[in-house]
Amino acid sequence: MHKLHSLLTRQFLFPLFVILLLVSTSFTPLQAFAATHAVRPWMDPSLSPDKRADLLLAQMTLDEKITMLHGTSLGIGLGGYVGHIPANTHLGIPALNLQDGAAGVAGGMTGVTAFPAPVAGAASWDTSLMNQYGQALATEMSGKGANIALSPTVNILRVPQWGRSYESFGEDPYLNSQLGVTEIQGIQSQHIIATVKHLAANNQETDRMSVSAQVDERTLQEIYLPAFHAAVHQGGVGAVMCSYNKVNTIYACEQPYLLHDVLDTQWNFPGFVMSDWYATHSAIEAANAGLDMEMPLGLFYDLPLRVAIGLGQVSMTTINTMVHRILRTMFAFGLFDYPTTGSPGNNVASSAHAQFALQEAEEGTVLLKNDQNILPLDGSKIKSIAVIGADASTSPMIVGGGSASVKAPYVVTPLQGIQKRAGSSISVQYASGSDQKQTAQVASSADVAIVFVNDVEAEGSDRSSLSLPNNQDQLVQTVSQANLHTIVVLNTGAPVLMPWVDQVPGIVEAWYPGQEDGNAIAAILFGDVNPSGKLPMTFPKQAGDVPANTTQQYPGVNGKAVYSEGVFVGYRYYDANHITPLFPFGHGLSYTTFSYSNLSVTPASSQGGTTSVSLDVTNTGSRDGSEVVQLYCGIPSTNVPEPPKQLKGFQKVLLSAGQTRRVTFSLDPSALAYWDVNSHGWVVQKGTYQVMVGSSSSDIRLTSNLTE
Ligand code: BGC
Repeated sequence: MHKLHSLLTRQFLFPLFVILLLVSTSFTPLQAFAATHAVRPWMDPSLSPDKRADLLLAQMTLDEKITMLHGTSLGIGLGGYVGHIPANTHLGIPALNLQDGAAGVAGGMTGVTAFPAPVAGAASWDTSLMNQYGQALATEMSGKGANIALSPTVNILRVPQWGRSYESFGEDPYLNSQLGVTEIQGIQSQHIIATVKHLAANNQETDRMSVSAQVDERTLQEIYLPAFHAAVHQGGVGAVMCSYNKVNTIYACEQPYLLHDVLDTQWNFPGFVMSDWYATHSAIEAANAGLDMEMPLGLFYDLPLRVAIGLGQVSMTTINTMVHRILRTMFAFGLFDYPTTGSPGNNVASSAHAQFALQEAEEGTVLLKNDQNILPLDGSKIKSIAVIGADASTSPMIVGGGSASVKAPYVVTPLQGIQKRAGSSISVQYASGSDQKQTAQVASSADVAIVFVNDVEAEGSDRSSLSLPNNQDQLVQTVSQANLHTIVVLNTGAPVLMPWVDQVPGIVEAWYPGQEDGNAIAAILFGDVNPSGKLPMTFPKQAGDVPANTTQQYPGVNGKAVYSEGVFVGYRYYDANHITPLFPFGHGLSYTTFSYSNLSVTPASSQGGTTSVSLDVTNTGSRDGSEVVQLYCGIPSTNVPEPPKQLKGFQKVLLSAGQTRRVTFSLDPSALAYWDVNSHGWVVQKGTYQVMVGSSSSDIRLTSNLTE
């Protein structure tokens, strides 16, 4: 009876009341506003998100609460959202429409911009660029009616075989943190909730649904969690997605250490946790650990959850907390106050976004090798160019596969970009590379040969080898033998082996560059844009050189991948083991040169809290260009083994030819801390720390000491 009454009241009387008020002729907008608030007090934007969530939650039935906790397949019928929670029209709760957005709006939607892959953004080492990406993405999301973006991915590139390398920001926790934070801030500036993913230690596709990452507490805290922590604390991220894999034998989406101890207790995360798609494995364990939302369906968070509530295995307090977290986040990011009016059919691409996609691709391109200054191409001297490889024309690798894949509205192929830039005074010949003899002939008859090669990465499987697939090493060899002036352009999402490295004078890593592929690479090759990208990961000389080089470590044995390399991931490992990589972390050349001088370190003690590090950087060449100045610290290995250096700061500085600028970093104490497993907290030990500044992790230009 009581239920019926409340239903009647809600369904009929309240709306009737509002309609009566609205039809009144003497009704002013202000009164309408006040009337809505009288009926739905949670719509008062002057109240805090927490208060608004309290008020709304108090009106919700159990059915309505359960509806908020899981997706429905309806999303697909609605035009391609990958996740969907229907609107509650009685209470005025907007629908939640979730969409992937690593490199643009995904989910097969058309009329969107195909931006470069995240790894290209990472290679720009430019936080403001990632912020702009976040804003551009969110604008397109909103135009499509989505209000939750499933981005960024901040999983560490632990193994270069990882099929989702192209979706990542590389191997360093600090670089991941800063790029993730700025992308999140960009997304969330547009009333769209960002989702940082995938918590945690989601570092391989082989057995991804079942493998257990066996990783110790210090390694988790120092390598695999910092970017999530930064997303929460610095970025204010609204949502966290837990991953498919297990962490220390427990599925991530029901892992009490991750969801309760870390997210909730240590970090005070006020947002909500959603599962990766079909990564929920229970109702009771998951809800009690801290998983708030099951995606994409309610396989566990509908009937099984209702049963668990009935049996007292999940308390109503827990359910209320889960719903409250979701509602609070929706209020905090304006989903109630600024509901999206977009819809899936809208064309949301724009020339401004195409221009930005071009800029991002240019900024992310890394000049790996440039012997005898073979680049930039001198348009006044070169009369003919051979462009070689299927990647240059028929199958350019502009985006990786899987949930992050974006439908490009068009693709400027490398061949088209080069032809356009070359103009009529330079002849451009193309060979696909399928016929060796013809390829050699085309290559040998040109002043310069540019060969485009790619790897093929997709979510769901790892690369079986670090070598280029489809005989492309042979292709490079054929071309380099035919023409001494050979430049290799790599369209890869991760490191590849280069057995021909010494046979070619020029190598460029252009990643998966998105729809503006050809225009971006032409601008770099001809020097219209001075390359400024730096590697966000180490390129090994040979497969056996990588940190996780046993089957126990990767892909794992008996369902367990043992992270026995500990904190020695990426360059931390190469440095500690004196292994010279093919190209080091942080490496990237320019068409100009930079010098570093006058390092000064002012310790925290003299200025309360932060240490400041400053130096002069001079552009010593004849072209304007940007340098990514990198700051590494060496923490003493007194208490625990430490890598020789760890990235703790970076700045991308634009310098005109001859210009000098003073660059200043401030290091807060956490930069010098290690995770102490006895106190379960960060500790800065007494001792002498090394401060190193350079142009890559292997090209340290200035060093100093710091005593704590
Ligand atoms: C991926 C997530 C993605 C989700 C929705 C999963 O397969 O791991 O990154 O957000 O699908 O498409």
